[in-house]
Parts: sequence; structure tokens; C-alpha cells
Amino acid sequence: MNTNGSKLNGVKANGLDWNRVMTPQVARKPDSRISTLFAPIAAGLAESERIFDLELASDLPFVGRLVEHCRQYRGKRLRPALVLLTGLACDGLNHNHPVLAAVVEMIHTATLVHDDILDESMVRRHAATVNAEWGNEPAVLMGDFLFTHAFHLAASLDSTLACRWIGRATNRVCEGEMQQVHNRGNIELDEETYFSIIRGKTAELTAVSCRLGAHYAGAATHVVDAMETYGRELGVAFQIADDVLDILGEERTAGKSLGTDLEKQKLTLPVIHLLKTAPAAVADQARELLDHPTAISRRVLRPLLEEHGSLEYTWERALQVAARSLGALDVLAESQAKDTLRSLAHFVVRRSS
Ligand code: IPE
Ligand code: IPE
Ligand code: MG
Ligand code: MG
Repeated sequence: MNTNGSKLNGVKANGLDWNRVMTPQVARKPDSRISTLFAPIAAGLAESERIFDLELASDLPFVGRLVEHCRQYRGKRLRPALVLLTGLACDGLNHNHPVLAAVVEMIHTATLVHDDILDESMVRRHAATVNAEWGNEPAVLMGDFLFTHAFHLAASLDSTLACRWIGRATNRVCEGEMQQVHNRGNIELDEETYFSIIRGKTAELTAVSCRLGAHYAGAATHVVDAMETYGRELGVAFQIADDVLDILGEERTAGKSLGTDLEKQKLTLPVIHLLKTAPAAVADQARELLDHPTAISRRVLRPLLEEHGSLEYTWERALQVAARSLGALDVLAESQAKDTLRSLAHFVVRRSS
């Protein structure tokens, strides 16, 4: 290939090629496929961004500069898109949906601002992180500002249910991050704990985004539950792919600091698999890399993961999880929005940013 690691050429899992995960075209234009996917909800996304900006407006120049920094560089907008697409797929978009979409994006942005402090990341969405530009203190406060605005905005909805659901999901996101911090440097981390961490820190928010989209569209309880399952499995697959990107990806393409999982001694699925299954000498080498991470750790680790089947294994697990999210869509009638939800389940494991 391939801007994401020539070592992967020809690596296959169940007949699937890693090069299909990170194609050169996608690597050069990370956002093109997602903009196409989101075309049917473009108006809803634009409205949610208007609400987002309005909610965060501040008269204080310094606060305004921080807000502007976070506002200027849009991410993929996956979570607001999930609110709108699940609402549309349930045939019931209404005035609540763009508000909910703005709320979940605000929570997500808050978690990123705080996560970048924890990971000492310098780049986010192709720009300096808040902590890199202004330091940790303003970044902690900016994250708080985003969290509190999200709940202030959610309180304007027709019912308080969204506040409760989003509050619960955000609690669990924090628990996931805390569980991860607690396990930093834990070389014994097992898969069960890894999955528990990512279900918390990432999948809770995608799950609640889908639950809200369906509920506020007036969907039946079993459909609302199925959409939550779709969002949860999607989030898990998304984070597995993100963790692979952290090792294999290109910062230029991803637009964010990579390699921080290794630097911060946060074990992810490929590494957990390698430590468990590789011959003793290789596992010892990997342990040494994790005990004393350096700037080149991920370059040294890549061929080990490739040669000992840990990338194939991780890829298979991501596909299994994505398949579960697809299964949850069976309750929906066929529609363009359902097709887009289906495509998203493929996209999340095949992304390069
Ligand atoms: C990044 O999420 C944090 C993770 C859960 C891996 P996204 O990749 O959705 O970030 P943006 O919003 O597109 O920047
Ligand atoms: C995701 O974890 C962070 C949250 C869900 C808050 P990561 O640390 O892997 O996210 P990135 O890679 O920095 O975007
Ligand atoms: Mg991070
Ligand atoms: Mg990551």
C-alpha cells in the first residue's frame, strides 16, 4: 500500500485483506466517504451545529477563543449522525433530534478534550489540542464547560428522559476512562477487562445516541432497544479499529496524535493477543517495549503483531462485533437511512481517521 504501513500488504483474515481496511484513496481523503454517507441528514447536521454554536456562545473573549477552537475543527460527527439516522430510520425525525444531536456531540467533544489531557496528546482534528495550545488547566475547564452546556441544552427538551439517559451514559464513559487509567501498565490486562473499558468509554455514547434517536422518533420499545444494541456494538467495533489505528495509522491522515496507547502503557486488543499467544521470547520482547515505551515502540511492535497473527485476530474480532451491530438492524423496515446505518457498520472498521 499504502500510507498506513506497507508491512500489511497481503495480510489476510478469513479472505479479507487489511488493504481494504485502509485503502490509499481513503487515506488521502479521510472524510469523503462519511460526507457521502451523511448526505441524507445534511440539513439535520447543519441545524445541530447551529444549536451547538448558539449554546456555547460566551461574552468572555478567552472563553470565546477556546470555544472557537473546538468549534472550528469538526470531527466525523458520528454520534449526531447516529441520532439523526436512527430517528429517520424509525420514520419520525422532529425538532428534538437536532438538539439531541448537538448534545451528544458536546459530550463527545468534552470527553476528547479531557482524554487529550490524560494522553498528553498534541494534535486533534488536524489542529493543536486544547492542552497543547493553552495548557491543562484551561483544558480541564473547557471540558467541564462542554459537559455542563450539554446538560443545560438537554434540559430544554420536551422531557427530562434524555437528561437521565445521557447522564447515565456519560457516567459510564467516565467509568470506562477511569478503569483504563487504573489499568495503565497492567501487563496482565485480559480481554474481558479490555472490552469492559471500551464498552464504557466509547460504546455507551454511541449506544445512547441511537437509543435517543429511536425513542424521540416514537419507536416501539423493542425497536428502541435494538437501536441501542446497534449503537453499542458499533461503538465497540469503532474503538477496536481506533486502537489498531493507534499502532498502525498515520498521524497526517488520522489528524490526531497516535501511539499514545503504547506511550501511556494502555494495552489494547492486538497487544493483549500477542502477549497471550506469542512464543515466550516474542512475548518478552513485547513486554519490554511496554515496560519502557519509546518513540519507536510502535514501529518495533508492528511486525511482531503481524507475524504472530495478532492483527488478523483483532480484525476478525472487529468484524464479528460489527456483524452483531448489523444484526440489530433487522427490526427496521428497509429505507435509505437503514442502508446508511448498515454502511456505517462497515465504515467504522475500515476507516483511517
Ligand atoms: C475519537 O472519536 C475518540 C474515540 C472514541 C476513538 P472520533 O474518531 O469519532 O472523533 P472525531 O469526532 O471524528 O474527531
Ligand atoms: C477514546 O480513547 C477516548 C474516549 C472515548 C473519551 P482514545 O484515547 O483511544 O481516543 P483517541 O485515540 O485519543 O481519539
Ligand atoms: Mg486518546
Ligand atoms: Mg485511540
